[in-house]
Amino acid sequence: MRRKFIVGNWKMHGLREGGATLASDLAGRMLGAGPVAFDMLLCPPATLLHTVAQAVADAPVKVGGQDCHGKDSGAHTGDIGAPMLADAGCSHVIVGHSERRQGHGELSADVKAKAAAAHRAGLVAIVCVGETEAERDAGRAMDVIARMIDDSVPDGATAANTVVAYEPVWAIGTGRTPTPGDVAAMHSMIRRRLATLVDQPDAVRILYGGSVKPDNAASLLHIDDVDGALVGGASLKADEFWAIAETCR
Ligand code: PGA
Repeated sequence: MRRKFIVGNWKMHGLREGGATLASDLAGRMLGAGPVAFDMLLCPPATLLHTVAQAVADAPVKVGGQDCHGKDSGAHTGDIGAPMLADAGCSHVIVGHSERRQGHGELSADVKAKAAAAHRAGLVAIVCVGETEAERDAGRAMDVIARMIDDSVPDGATAANTVVAYEPVWAIGTGRTPTPGDVAAMHSMIRRRLATLVDQPDAVRILYGGSVKPDNAASLLHIDDVDGALVGGASLKADEFWAIAETCR
């Protein structure tokens, strides 16, 4: 019942020409592939949202932001409101990525406000959670993630407006991943936790993120309760991102 979801997080990479080429390449592959067993979302930097939205306009590829403010508008220099993302052609927005939590001091309460803002704007919020290596080594990973879920998922969250991404901080950009058993245990705990927060927890898509590559995608994406991938580095190369997506076929 849960369709796989393959999300590319371009982070702070890409200028207009390269971004348009990458997005057009993927749009062409989606159009040429016929029916596929996954949905695709590209989250470019804000400067490329319009370019990417235009490049994928005729293809079954969606566009998302990488962050939004918790307020809809106001005196917040440098920030972007969720209604602006919607206006730029977005259907989704990532909130609470660990690079925001760590690099910008965002707390789960901030993430919750951002997710609520996304919902007000009609966007799907992709709520990211992840433990640090020290937390995992101390045996606290489950507790930390349970708490992050409780504190980051806003009232009014549903399977239609919210996706969760489990991204262990120590696995992002490092080439390291948790074992399939650890991923399975974490995703099933997250789903149980969501049961206290949303009406249809079995319908919520829970993505895994952190060093997903073509050679490990099948083993990660075929785990129960893993409903897709949030891909960083490998989403910047069409061949790699497509190879990851194709493991869902
Ligand atoms: P990575 O990044 O695939 O480069 O590890 C994932 C992410 O941060 O979303």
